Amino acid sequence: MSQSRPVEVAPGIYWVGGTFANQGLQCNPYLLIDDQEAVLIDPGSILDFEEVWGNVCSLISPDQIRYVILHHQDPDLCSSVPLFEQRGCRFQLVTHWRTKMLVRYYGVSSDFYIVNSHQNQLKLTSGRTLSFLPAPYLHFPGAIMTYDALTQTLFSSDLFGAFSPFWTLEAPEDYLEQMKSFHEHYMPSNEVIRPVMESLMGLPILLIAPQHGSLIRNDIRMYIKALRDLECGAFLHSVRKNLDISGGYLASTEAVLKRYASLYGQSEAQRVLLESGFRADPDLRILPVLEADHQMWDMVSERMFARKGVEWLMTAEPLVERLAYEYEIPLPEVYTAHLARSNSELQRLSEENKSLLAARDRLAQNLIGVEQSMTHSQLTGLYNFPFFQNYLNEEIGAITAKGLQTNPALIVLSLDQIERIKYRYGDKEVDQLFKNTALLLEATQEDYQVYFKLPGSLFACYIPHAAKARAVEVAEELRNAIASSRKFVETVTASIGVVSLQELQPEEQQPSVASNRFYEIAQERVRIAKNKGKNRVCSNSSPEDTPSKCDILLVEPEQTVADVISVVLENMQYNVQRATDGEIALEMAGRYQPELILSEVMLPKMDGFSLRQELLLRSDTKSIPVLYMSHLKTEESVRRAMDLGVIHYFRKPLMLAELRGVISNLASKGERL
Ligand SMILES: [Fe+2]
Ligand SMILES: [Fe+2]
Repeated sequence: MSQSRPVEVAPGIYWVGGTFANQGLQCNPYLLIDDQEAVLIDPGSILDFEEVWGNVCSLISPDQIRYVILHHQDPDLCSSVPLFEQRGCRFQLVTHWRTKMLVRYYGVSSDFYIVNSHQNQLKLTSGRTLSFLPAPYLHFPGAIMTYDALTQTLFSSDLFGAFSPFWTLEAPEDYLEQMKSFHEHYMPSNEVIRPVMESLMGLPILLIAPQHGSLIRNDIRMYIKALRDLECGAFLHSVRKNLDISGGYLASTEAVLKRYASLYGQSEAQRVLLESGFRADPDLRILPVLEADHQMWDMVSERMFARKGVEWLMTAEPLVERLAYEYEIPLPEVYTAHLARSNSELQRLSEENKSLLAARDRLAQNLIGVEQSMTHSQLTGLYNFPFFQNYLNEEIGAITAKGLQTNPALIVLSLDQIERIKYRYGDKEVDQLFKNTALLLEATQEDYQVYFKLPGSLFACYIPHAAKARAVEVAEELRNAIASSRKFVETVTASIGVVSLQELQPEEQQPSVASNRFYEIAQERVRIAKNKGKNRVCSNSSPEDTPSKCDILLVEPEQTVADVISVVLENMQYNVQRATDGEIALEMAGRYQPELILSEVMLPKMDGFSLRQELLLRSDTKSIPVLYMSHLKTEESVRRAMDLGVIHYFRKPLMLAELRGVISNLASKGERL
């Protein structure tokens, strides 16, 4: 059977899968179309690719696929990604970082969008937001689900999936049984599944769209509760039922029959029963027999095996084992004959079972905290150092392998007063300092920036794509936020190193060495910033290479006035640079690092007051002395100048003797001149 056309399952959401007769495990890719943008969800396997591709192309042009969501790393949902890439699609792979580690091995070349670095959200151009819900260990540590609030659709990946020998897109009536069977095999334990299902209870859901099995629209809470309470996986450990043994055989046979019917149909189940010498009502309740005993259990199991083979035995095995355990009856003979294991094997399994039970207990205790503690600093809540190393290796490795098509920047920040605060106030205050710094960093965080807590006094910020000038701006904002914060026990400052990946030498751009070198350069610049007096940003490893310094930056829009002042200052043997407006002055102050700035107050673009404020915000210009001059010299303007720490305010027209006198005076007082 081949499903040749896509099906709209919710407004703008299409099932775009392929189908194969009797494969038993249907895979469901979905396409979400939002205006001109499309998101492909769990695209599928190599086997389905041509059908899925045809379905997608019948709805949109493939270059509209901007994102591909991979809920975990299995081949039934990921292996077609390289085939989409080979057909020219350009998209980002949206997934958990743990999944990314494995998805790379399919040979994919697309960039990744790591959901944990984006508050588990993806915002589409229209503003529509998809949320990612963690489903750890169901059945991969980095498994996630996707929730679309607009249509209230939950893309649940393997959860809510089912074995489906006779697949239908909409869930059939007995879907619950099919679903249980799948989860018994593929999900690890009730302890793991329960909290995730409980987290879904409060979510408004109109449609569950799983990666296997069928769409669930009705009785959604009933399905969630069924999985919440399901005993599944290697940790099967159910309560023994208090039934006499004959009731046990009857209940077990009926339960297995019901499962068989859910997969192969009612009439097939009735036929098995007839061939075994029994009959049942339409609800598969076995009609009264004198005594239900092991013969019924054995014969019905034998007939099922005869008709559906080993595949059925294996499908039903978790259920049969659980029933035998619950009712304290032996396994059907067909199981002991066909799936018998040697004594030593049993011994090994029982040992393994013991250790699995112990592991289950540990897992249950640690599960909630495990993800957090493995990747985050307990103290600050930021990503920790092992995660940083891993993340940088992955990101920089991938970017350098592709010839630096993007240019990330790294900011490393060291708090300057750690030793002093430790000495004066003790370790607790240092911990508080780290916590407060993390809060400050998070408060300035923009989309795409990722923060880390590194060893000692270090923090880092990774910006996936930014011009270096922008990264320096971000670093200055951080430096200012810390230096002006009142959260600390006393004033705290930071020395900051900034590096952009494109600065690496060609021989350093090998994927194997690039991330180490990238981090090394940032650390080197932190040291330079410290050596130059702390509380500053360093973005250049060889400060000597910066343009030659000038003595005085003259900011004067009137050319004739500027000419006169320049002559006076040059006659005093000073090297003068000239700027005609506030913005140019700000840029030149950073570039030439003058010893003094002499500025008109009334300037185009940015007046003298704003210029001074901007200079104070930058670590390399904040200590340059500023002198004002203007025809405007009111009490108010002088007061503002004094508040800004301006050293002198000349009234225009200038008295040249006064100008010479003030500047000579400053030089003799050891100001920077
Ligand atoms: Fe899977
Ligand atoms: Fe799957």
